[in-house]
Amino acid sequence: MQVNKVAVVGSGTMGSSIAVALISRGYPTILKDVDDKTVQSGLNNIDRLLKSRVDKGLSAKEAEAQRALILPSTDYATFADVDFVIEAVPEIIELKKKVFEDLDEWCNVDAIFGSNTSSLSITQIGAFTRRPDKVVGLHFFNPAHLMKLVEVIPGLETSHDTVNSAIELGISLGKLAVRVEECASFLVNRLLGRYINESLWCLQEGVGSVEEIDKAACDYVMPIGPLALRDMNGSDVGLAVARFNFQEYGDRFLPASILEEMVKLNLLGQKTKEGFYKYDENTRKRIGTNSRLAEILVRLGGIRDGAPPFDVERLFLPMINEAFLVLQEKVCDVQDLDPAMMAGLGMRRGPLALASEIGLAECLRKIEALNQIYGERFRPAPLLKRYVWANRTSVL
Ligand SMILES: NC(=O)c1ccc[n+]([C@@H]2O[C@H](COP(=O)([O-])OP(=O)(O)OC[C@H]3O[C@@H](n4cnc5c(N)ncnc54)[C@H](O)[C@@H]3O)[C@@H](O)[C@H]2O)c1
Repeated sequence: MQVNKVAVVGSGTMGSSIAVALISRGYPTILKDVDDKTVQSGLNNIDRLLKSRVDKGLSAKEAEAQRALILPSTDYATFADVDFVIEAVPEIIELKKKVFEDLDEWCNVDAIFGSNTSSLSITQIGAFTRRPDKVVGLHFFNPAHLMKLVEVIPGLETSHDTVNSAIELGISLGKLAVRVEECASFLVNRLLGRYINESLWCLQEGVGSVEEIDKAACDYVMPIGPLALRDMNGSDVGLAVARFNFQEYGDRFLPASILEEMVKLNLLGQKTKEGFYKYDENTRKRIGTNSRLAEILVRLGGIRDGAPPFDVERLFLPMINEAFLVLQEKVCDVQDLDPAMMAGLGMRRGPLALASEIGLAECLRKIEALNQIYGERFRPAPLLKRYVWANRTSVL
């Protein structure tokens, strides 16, 4: 499908950076929000992002030409000739319902609707329209103009043509566009959730300190430690995601209670200047770990009997195990899994490469040993067992 004009609905954090991704590839882009003030705030953000591109070498003339491709709007009157809409309004199902009903009224019958939802069902969103075959998940990562991954998620009724058009659009934006079957948190955030939660358990049980855990993860394969990442996104957002995953997947996603404690004490991370780390009032730069954690850790428990000393593999084995569950459920192609994790999270090697490196039989042995101590969080994935029984040394 030829995409000549795109509309982004919602000009907040994601909408404005998605718009920058679009205009940098030459797409005329409507940017719609609820009123002039919110549209203006989106435009200000776009100007800021373009300026940082100019600082890095984009010519002022080119930046101006890109900026001219933005068509600000507070209604749907200009949506009639739009080929592709990307919805990025807050994660509230009633709000999305109204937006998709309105889009269905105002847009051409052939227009495709992509939703940037992180957790809501694409099938449910599609059912708000009379064109569920033309509704697809288009899950960008923050900041969308820089992050290289977009997950393309078909709902139950989404057509092949719609999926292909979404993948083509993602590729035309210079992204790795990976098809992911609909499941809670989709692919990357599902695997990320297992790893972050395990880092919180390690901290809560006194197995590793904030610095030890983050340093070990960075030395291994990550661009940022799990606790620094939690601080960056906000522990309140992290808690909502952790609870959602627990509700959808059950005990293997049991959230470590330290997160709830942090939220109760308003230790949300960078936005409150205090989380696992402390941050400078003005610059938001990290200025050391948070001494208030010590008291929380004492209250929460201490080392469990028989717990092995901290080992970075403990953080990644749940992610590896979840990767095998994802493959078992055919959520994505095996070849896409590591590249998606690398593009979405900046990992230097993906979980399947790590599994081969550790050795599949060794992974299973370690997961089984941790299963004896920690229960469900380490129940081995049946597919991992099958690979080991078949004497395979690699999944790829
Ligand atoms: N923030 C992230 O890191 C991230 C990452 C991936 C996906 N997402 C998803 O992207 C979506 C948007 O998240 P965000 O962080 O950009 O939210 P945000 O709150 O920063 O922005 C949402 C914008 O939508 C606007 N809006 C509300 N109702 C509207 C309507 N009827 N028409 C037009 N605009 C409307 C709001 O005024 C606001 O400007 C959510 O579904 C979220 O789950 C967020």
